[in-house]
Amino acid sequence: MFKQALLKALNIGANPDWLQQKSLNLLQKFGNLSYEQSLALQIIDRPHYGYCVYHSAALAKKLGYSRISVVEFGVAGGNGLINLEYHAEQVSKIFGIDIDIYGFDTGEGLPKPIDYRDLPYHWQESFFKMNIPELKNRLTKAQLVLGDIRETVTNFFQEYQPAPIAAMFHDFDYYSSTIAAFKMFDEDEKYLLPRIYCYLDDVIGSEIELYNDYTGIRLAVNEFNENHSLKKLSPAYHLLTRQHLKTWYHQIYIYHDFSHSKYNQFISSDAQQLPLQ
Ligand SMILES: C[S@@+](CC[C@H](N)C(=O)[O-])C[C@H]1O[C@@H](n2cnc3c(N)ncnc32)[C@H](O)[C@@H]1O
Repeated sequence: MFKQALLKALNIGANPDWLQQKSLNLLQKFGNLSYEQSLALQIIDRPHYGYCVYHSAALAKKLGYSRISVVEFGVAGGNGLINLEYHAEQVSKIFGIDIDIYGFDTGEGLPKPIDYRDLPYHWQESFFKMNIPELKNRLTKAQLVLGDIRETVTNFFQEYQPAPIAAMFHDFDYYSSTIAAFKMFDEDEKYLLPRIYCYLDDVIGSEIELYNDYTGIRLAVNEFNENHSLKKLSPAYHLLTRQHLKTWYHQIYIYHDFSHSKYNQFISSDAQQLPLQ
């Protein structure tokens, strides 16, 4: 049936992109694929969330961690957090590693923008309010940390004693909120992996947002990098050089803490040699 559908599509002169998408749709429906296969083919809800959870758990495992945390900054209605629960559950089984999930939000939607750096021409106070009881009812594992990040960031680690953070999903929309979330990178290294997979939602937008290096999340990244000599956020160049680019590849950044005691721990393939042929 799968083959017939493809041949029929070829006969009617379908273009390769369309054909590829149709094949993927069929695979998703009838292929009985494993989670890893669906993730690799990106026929899964929020592949960028899955990508970060999967690869951060793989790294954690290699570094000897048995429990990690993943964090969403900006929860809104909660669709992202629920999706994160799904990915964490699947990945946890694959690597035999426990994954805790935290979601940070005011619960009341966006706070007031501080100034032009928060792009008030695009965002407004109280966008994205949460229905707290409804979301709490739907969550099976994730914990909500409610309040303004500028306050909650100060005692989160003492209060929750979280397992080391391995992946972050930054979707606070604002420069001011994101730079506050980045304060977590200043915490004791016992709470953080030496390299952390970060998804930054608002570095790519449209002709309305016109995201740039001097406002919003890109400014927060630039300021963080300028102010830290041994801690840096870098684009994920290994994704940006893939043949078929996806927009979200540009939204993955890797946090590096060069001063972390586990930063130099060897995790690559053993016995690499290139004998003369
Ligand atoms: C675009 S929404 C998040 C969407 C969500 N990640 C998803 O994928 O469905 C942005 C959220 O960030 C939250 N937010 C922005 N600034 C905040 C701050 N300073 N403290 C806490 N939450 C904040 C807002 O309340 C809002 O719900």
